[in-house]
Amino acid sequence: MRSYSLIAPAKINLYLEIIGDASGGLRQRPDGYHELAMILQSIRLADQIDVRSISTDNIRVHCNHPQVPTDKTNLAYRAAELMVRQFPEAFAKYGGVEINVNKQIPVAAGLAGGSTNAAAVLVGIDLLWKLGLTQSELEELGGTLGSDVPFCVAGGTAIATGRGEQLSPLPSLDKIYIVLGKYRSLEVSTPWAYKTYREQFGNSYIRDTDNLAARANAVHSGAIVKAIVDKDAREIAQKLHNDLERVVLPAYPQVLQMREVFANQEGVLGTMMSGSGPTVFALFESQQQAEEVKLQVRKAILDEDLELFVTRTITHGIKVVSSV
Ligand code: C5P
Repeated sequence: MRSYSLIAPAKINLYLEIIGDASGGLRQRPDGYHELAMILQSIRLADQIDVRSISTDNIRVHCNHPQVPTDKTNLAYRAAELMVRQFPEAFAKYGGVEINVNKQIPVAAGLAGGSTNAAAVLVGIDLLWKLGLTQSELEELGGTLGSDVPFCVAGGTAIATGRGEQLSPLPSLDKIYIVLGKYRSLEVSTPWAYKTYREQFGNSYIRDTDNLAARANAVHSGAIVKAIVDKDAREIAQKLHNDLERVVLPAYPQVLQMREVFANQEGVLGTMMSGSGPTVFALFESQQQAEEVKLQVRKAILDEDLELFVTRTITHGIKVVSSV
């Protein structure tokens, strides 16, 4: 096969906790990252990635979205570069790689759009070059590119700890319906969100069990995990949590307003910002309720910059849809 098309789903965070250290401060790791306990969930909103071998010995990236760079700053490009470095013999045998990104996931949105593209490139090149890598090998490679990449390879529903790359799968959550809201022109820098959180809350941040292992374990046995195991959408929605809301909502009043509009709609089980934002999501039991709330939010916020999507939870990560 010389070409593969892959579906690269976005994710939302059902839970994001930044973990304090034993002194009550916030641990910034030697690598500059923060220790997290998260629950990540794949959603149907996805990009399509086409990966093909080319006769020249370079990497080319194309994207339909004008804001997405096609050079080394694109994580999909860096994923291909990583494969070239790791597997020079396969690169010599099969030649260069052309990557086409059909972007549907909003950019810089807290939905892992870049990470899921990188995950798809790893999976696609593994197939193109017949490397036969296991899922855990692909996840490990992904972890060197970005904290969310390993989850994007596997997908479904999972607890993610460490900097987000250590995964424990949870029973899959199918068909909880979701409305996503994102202002097209609004982007939040993830490094800014973590840095501001540490600066604002680092020294006053004391929890009952303030050490890493205890907090990570607390998430494993926590109420939201129980609700996921029970497939209880109402209870999951009650237990949504995201520490980064504490810095992003005050700094971005439109995001706070959107969250309030969502929270006041009928049929909304719960609402929360995803990742470092600025996307806000709301959960629903039925697609009909989600479609209705999308219309209501459109009427309540008369701003054409606001993009709204109806989507749902899915049980997979990167998926091959065709090969030629
Ligand atoms: O891993 P990724 O490149 O997606 O992370 C983007 C940025 O988010 C990092 O450079 C870092 O500033 C911040 N981050 C963090 N702690 C994490 C994950 C991300 O501080 N666990």
